[in-house]
Amino acid sequence: MDLGTYLHEKKIIVENTLRDIFTSFHTTPGVLRDAMEYMLFSNGKRIRPILAIAACEAKNKSCDDVLPFACAIEMIHTYSLIHDDLPSIDNDDLRRGKPTCHKVFGDAIAILAGDALLTEAFRVMADDSYTERVNPKIIKQIIFEIAMAAGAEGMVGGQVMDVLYEGKEGTRGILNFIHTHKTTSLIRISVRTGAIVAGVKTRELQKFTKYGESIGLAFQIMDDLLDAEGDEEKVGKRLKKDTSKQTYIKHYGTVASKIKLEQLIDEAIKSIDFLGENSKILTELAQFIGNRVV
Ligand code: IPE
Ligand code: IPE
Ligand code: MG
Ligand code: MG
Ligand code: MG
Repeated sequence: MDLGTYLHEKKIIVENTLRDIFTSFHTTPGVLRDAMEYMLFSNGKRIRPILAIAACEAKNKSCDDVLPFACAIEMIHTYSLIHDDLPSIDNDDLRRGKPTCHKVFGDAIAILAGDALLTEAFRVMADDSYTERVNPKIIKQIIFEIAMAAGAEGMVGGQVMDVLYEGKEGTRGILNFIHTHKTTSLIRISVRTGAIVAGVKTRELQKFTKYGESIGLAFQIMDDLLDAEGDEEKVGKRLKKDTSKQTYIKHYGTVASKIKLEQLIDEAIKSIDFLGENSKILTELAQFIGNRVV
């Protein structure tokens, strides 16, 4: 199967599961549900859940068991975007080619929609009706790891440093902390989640993890490059907004950033060599991340 078809098929599966999760909201105020749905179903790439599925399938396991965790990660990612766009963080008015959540629903509802998506993500993972087929020990491990990846030690910690160092000189060390925390953490855990659900242990899990770390950093370097020289129509976000931020462009320049990006994609691909023929989709996903224009 070519990557385009794979991405399309998995996107539909993820979105159907997310729709199913939304049927469990009964007394949720309408405006809160609308705000969550507005950003959750607005044509994101779904790269994180697809990575979780692809890692699981690379070990010949069906994606059914990983789907609730993959969707929970997408819900956490969506909350992070809603909050990232707020006036007090990046102050953005366009996301995925549409007005940002707070532009449509106001700051208060956007903040609360983010809060709800984050909390509901953990409810989904702990809810038997979605994860009953998965060994409870595995569920506990994944919930723990996702919490670490998303929280103070992970994505939120990275976002805090991103905000603190806006307009400051910064160093390559600070830049590395920001990128590996705000973006790599969730991408790394997406890959690990797929592998853990598939029953992968120690040595192989380290290799999946290395793959996730390499594509995770590459993903944010590409995001920095797209801000500097992407096409606003395609990217669906306001561009050239990162001039006061800690970015790869600021600390390394465009040429070295592109070289680093290519190196990371090569490293990612090498680390999953051991999968043999089963490395095809993960290899193509890494190449996709290295060449994306959206
Ligand atoms: C955007 O993530 C935020 C970053 C970590 C750079 P994506 O580029 O995956 O956003 P969507 O979900 O596809 O819109
Ligand atoms: C955001 O990084 C990472 C998140 C945790 C949301 P950016 O601020 O660069 O992401 P975009 O460019 O707004 O998507
Ligand atoms: Mg930001
Ligand atoms: Mg932003
Ligand atoms: Mg960005």
